[in-house]
Amino acid sequence: MKVLAISGGTKNGGNDAMCKEALKGAKNQGAEIEFIRLLDLDIKPCTGCTACVQSILNGRGNMCVLKDDFNWLLDKIYDADGIIYSIPIFEKGPSGSFRTIMDRFGPRMGRAHQVIANELFKQGKGKPVDPRFLKDKVISFMAVGGSEWCTSVQCDFGIHALTPMWKIINNEVFSWSLGIAADDKKIARANEIGVNIAKAAADIEHAEYKGEAGICPHCHSRNFYITGENTKAICCLCGIEGHVAIVDNQVKFEFNDEQLKHAHDTMEGQFIHADDIRRNTAKAMEKLKSDEFKKRVAEYKEFITASMPEK
Ligand SMILES: Cc1cc2nc3c(=O)[nH]c(=O)nc-3n(C[C@H](O)[C@H](O)[C@H](O)COP(=O)(O)O)c2cc1C
Repeated sequence: MKVLAISGGTKNGGNDAMCKEALKGAKNQGAEIEFIRLLDLDIKPCTGCTACVQSILNGRGNMCVLKDDFNWLLDKIYDADGIIYSIPIFEKGPSGSFRTIMDRFGPRMGRAHQVIANELFKQGKGKPVDPRFLKDKVISFMAVGGSEWCTSVQCDFGIHALTPMWKIINNEVFSWSLGIAADDKKIARANEIGVNIAKAAADIEHAEYKGEAGICPHCHSRNFYITGENTKAICCLCGIEGHVAIVDNQVKFEFNDEQLKHAHDTMEGQFIHADDIRRNTAKAMEKLKSDEFKKRVAEYKEFITASMPEK
């Protein structure tokens, strides 16, 4: 059983320390361990070309047009049974380096997309899917912050786990953590998180979330989009639509069970999303062929060009 820890921090900084301590815990449980630092890698931002999704859904395989270290990282991630991230909090959320991983990973590695590609292959209409992309995995997150500005980081972490449908074991924030390597309590917690992920990775089928309950009963998120339409709210993580209520002086998020079909972390919900995309893309393709569209794009091209620094 293999546990991979990925740090988004500076060399030998707080996030490296948290990863290494978690790996100590995992190693004590018998895990084979590996450590990667994101800033050591050349990983370019996603350009949004969507070639990855198109190639998967057309049975042409799982590809990205960017040539950098991302495929190497992907291989390491898919070779592990359990993943731990320790990521610095920047502007209340995860650092840009982590967001880049999310963008490069999300559409390309969506679990429903892999299942659809696998079906195409079985029907003789496409390339085989890497069997590792169809397997379950467990994942834990640690967010390290220099202050207590941290309110969107756990939700973003959850979204990273949601697309490949990996089970989250721990998702924790460590605020006011400058010099965290000298903080016995936080270091001990990192070790426990490492123990937890190793135990979960050894028995993924029975692995369970070990964090706080949160507010969303489905995904544990504390982040909601309050629509302003009576008490209607949408969970920012799993996408379930429901209502907020105060029960016994506690905020509750309540929803109809029917909503579970649409949850973004379920196969059913991901199929609905993939289907919506397919239908709307087909409609949009018609628009792209229209003279009105071509005329407007030509006008914008003529109107102004993007300024760039001189090289
Ligand atoms: C651009 C930037 C934005 C930051 N924003 C936050 C923030 O919103 N909340 C917070 O708690 N810490 C914030 N910090 C502090 C970092 O989280 C902290 O420097 C980092 O966890 C250190 O990690 P390292 O020692 O592994 O490099 C920010 C730091 C930088 C450089």
